[in-house]
Amino acid sequence: MANARVIGVRSVELGVRDLNQSATFYKDVWGLDEVAAEGNALYLRGTGRDHHLLALREQGKASLLTVDFAAADRETVDQLHAKTKGYGVTVFGDPAPRTATEGGGYGFKFHTPDGLPIRISCEIGEHQDTVIDRSRPTKISHVVLNSAKTDDQIRFFVDVLGFKLTDSTHLMEFLRCSSDHHSMAVFRNNGPSLNHIAYEVPDIDGLMRGSGRLKRSGFNVEWGIGRHGPGNNVFSYFIEPNGFVTEYTTEVEQIDDADHIYGDAKFWDRLPQKPDRWGMAGLPSNRMQLAMSGSLYQADVAPDNERCEDIIGRKLG
Ligand SMILES: [Fe+2]
Repeated sequence: MANARVIGVRSVELGVRDLNQSATFYKDVWGLDEVAAEGNALYLRGTGRDHHLLALREQGKASLLTVDFAAADRETVDQLHAKTKGYGVTVFGDPAPRTATEGGGYGFKFHTPDGLPIRISCEIGEHQDTVIDRSRPTKISHVVLNSAKTDDQIRFFVDVLGFKLTDSTHLMEFLRCSSDHHSMAVFRNNGPSLNHIAYEVPDIDGLMRGSGRLKRSGFNVEWGIGRHGPGNNVFSYFIEPNGFVTEYTTEVEQIDDADHIYGDAKFWDRLPQKPDRWGMAGLPSNRMQLAMSGSLYQADVAPDNERCEDIIGRKLG
């Protein structure tokens, strides 16, 4: 049981104000395809095998409803359920079968020590076909959460869910559960809230083409295009219609446990350009900083709303 751990991030479920508006963005602009719909919820897949990468649920308010992690099998799900319960966080019932609309499988839901919703599942259905289009997302790359109690979150993700700490900076802790440099990161910030969701695209050319599609649709690159320090990944960040931050990323560093050396904040301080190695992107705009802090979606303010500028004024200045 000590070795029970999650092995990847699979999908995210978001509460949205207007399902049609959000579906139009994620299908026509972001590049996902509808795979299932039920009631006020819509499930969208990427070009890879995962049943869905994103579930949208209309509920009148933007919110993070679940981050879905994968486990290898039912035995591991049961073991992680026992460990999570034993740790004392809020756990919602026993592991149970998931609906066909969700892709089936078996899992359970709980809250992080900060109170953010997570689900761990196994045996979720996979598509047999994949789509070849490098401008569209293949999978969820990583999810970043904001926390005012970072150390508590890291302890939980490492000790209970089996993540490994890959790198740390003064701002962020990067956690891996597969060969990807990070599937999860915790940002030292106000919290708890969602900082951003990153979707992997196959290569830099695809990232540029996808970013161009966003730009032509009226969504400017809010931070990027650049290459990060920790993770070495190329990034292009946008603010979607609910105020969530969404990222295309590619070339994420692959980690081999046998020879990886953890870099602490002091190590990364030696690389002054660490968030933006190419020096092209600069710092995130005020709008992007506000969105990454969770303030836009939590305030129910669409990014094109003039109230956005008001909030920026009050928060930053
Ligand atoms: Fe990211």
